[in-house]
Amino acid sequence: MDTLELRRTTPQDLPRILEIERLSYPSPWNVHTFLSVFSDEDCMNLTCVWRGAIVGFCLTEVMTKMVHLLNLAVHPEFRRQGLGRSMLGEIISFARSNRKSYVFLEVRRTNNTAQALYTSLGFSAVCTWRRYYTDSGEDACIMAKRIEVMTP
Ligand SMILES: CC(C)(COP(=O)(O)OP(=O)(O)OC[C@H]1O[C@@H](n2cnc3c(N)ncnc32)[C@H](O)[C@@H]1OP(=O)(O)O)[C@@H](O)C(=O)NCCC(=O)NCCS
Repeated sequence: MDTLELRRTTPQDLPRILEIERLSYPSPWNVHTFLSVFSDEDCMNLTCVWRGAIVGFCLTEVMTKMVHLLNLAVHPEFRRQGLGRSMLGEIISFARSNRKSYVFLEVRRTNNTAQALYTSLGFSAVCTWRRYYTDSGEDACIMAKRIEVMTP
């Protein structure tokens, strides 16, 4: 049976996560950056497992009133099948159940694919950070989604 599992990331996931990272970004994070996120108690990290194989990950920093999306990637062979949307949906649910007001993130101005995903889930552009990315000098678009708390 086809099964999608979203579970908390473990240190054993690191080699496959690094592989997906390198396939996903022009300037991938190095192993030290991942280890620092994994050891940060304020970070909530998800690993996406499809048919028993790790195919994506999502890293977040949980702040007092907001959740900051740090990294989200799906292996190129598994894209456009709803996995990115599933991971982000899980983060939004986490934010809602933990009574956070916003989920926010930075995305490269030219990353239309990711921006389309975020927009489809209700994120809006709130501002631009000029020349935020040091590798290319590209601007970052800051996107945020307000989390409505469900009342019984
Ligand atoms: C961005 C990323 C995580 C999306 O993952 P994904 O699993 O392919 O996304 P989904 O299949 O869940 O797509 C959900 C929606 O996003 C949008 N979307 C996703 N890929 C798209 C594409 N190539 N072109 C246009 N829209 C796209 C669509 O609205 C899509 O909904 P639809 O398929 O019903 O039209 C993936 O492309 C990726 O890993 N990119 C490289 C890393 C990256 O840029 N991360 C974001 C950093 S801010």
